[in-house]
Amino acid sequence: MYDFDEVINRRTPDDIKYAQTAEIDDLIPLWVADMDFKSPPEVIDELVRVASGGIYGYSEADKSYDAAVISWFAKRFDWSITSDQILKLPGVVLAASYAVTTLTKANDHVMIFEPVYGPFRRCVEGNDRRLTVEQLKTVNGRFEVDVTEMERRIVEDDVKMLIWCSPHNPGGRVWTEAELCAVADICGKHGVFIVSDEIHSDLTLYGNRHIPMAKIAGDNCVVLTAPTKTFNIAGIQAANIISTNKDVLHKIDQTALATGAYGLNKMGIAATRAAYTYGEPWLTELLTYIEGNIALLHEELKDTDLVMMEPEGTYLVWIDCSAHKDFAKRLITEAHVRSSEGEFFGNGGEGHIRLNVACPRSVLKEGIRRIKSIL
Ligand SMILES: Cc1ncc(COP(=O)(O)O)c(C=O)c1O
Repeated sequence: MYDFDEVINRRTPDDIKYAQTAEIDDLIPLWVADMDFKSPPEVIDELVRVASGGIYGYSEADKSYDAAVISWFAKRFDWSITSDQILKLPGVVLAASYAVTTLTKANDHVMIFEPVYGPFRRCVEGNDRRLTVEQLKTVNGRFEVDVTEMERRIVEDDVKMLIWCSPHNPGGRVWTEAELCAVADICGKHGVFIVSDEIHSDLTLYGNRHIPMAKIAGDNCVVLTAPTKTFNIAGIQAANIISTNKDVLHKIDQTALATGAYGLNKMGIAATRAAYTYGEPWLTELLTYIEGNIALLHEELKDTDLVMMEPEGTYLVWIDCSAHKDFAKRLITEAHVRSSEGEFFGNGGEGHIRLNVACPRSVLKEGIRRIKSIL
């Protein structure tokens, strides 16, 4: 019903996917994590309706916004939340940064598991906190947490906070209940507060089920959510922090008020409400399309020396390309394909690329053909 095969020209001077390599006319950008698909029609209609109204004044999300968010999380994750457990902010990275500055002190240790989305590091180091970097282990072709080692490092560094990525970017893990319980138990035992970045939670594949960390860790966590990855509206900058810990939410809200970056803009409210209210049929078809793209990539790479980690969620694929020197750079200069370079994801990222497969299949096919042409 929805046309994910449509190739849309999104090459404008302000489009980040192309702008940084504007000199390459025929670039295939399989890097930054947004999609080359149009958002659900109901989201577009709502944004057009607001835009054509011509009034762009200050806005505040009302009860209808909260109702849309609450019903989405109930339906998708059997997670029952209330209005006073939702804090609206213009971005997930901003929310993580606020959590760090609000809930820890200068020089406190914050744990992250690498490889992971690069800005986690910045949220910690940029705010004068110290990093405790744990390494994800690759077991049977997928990332796992070594909980014994995790606990040892928490004690050794007196870690105060964990920034957790669930589902995991770039590995595509949809963590199981047992894995989440193990992490939450250790954190609870040692007074480590969990900031769980769940921006990819709607993008689970092959029947894998995402479990919000709050259903396991309760008051000892905040969950960072957003409709932006799911419905391809990252440019409108909208996020919801959700927690049963009202004291923590209140403190983060105070930080946000002090900085002046808080709440949602008019377009963010409109798009989020429409997406959560009407976007589910579109999402269902999107996920099937992404599974098809991943299957294509799998088939095309299986006889090469590029080793793909099979994602359980997200539209991002982590690939070991260590058999080839400077592969990400050669991809740009020789194949005109841009991937995300593994180094962006910290320790364990070297010798890897991350490919974003959320594009029309014809574009992905051509991207893969070019990738294989330089092997
Ligand atoms: C794990 C993760 N968190 C946060 C973000 C960005 O969120 P925001 O644009 O709301 O800051 C991304 C984007 O790729 C991401 O992958």
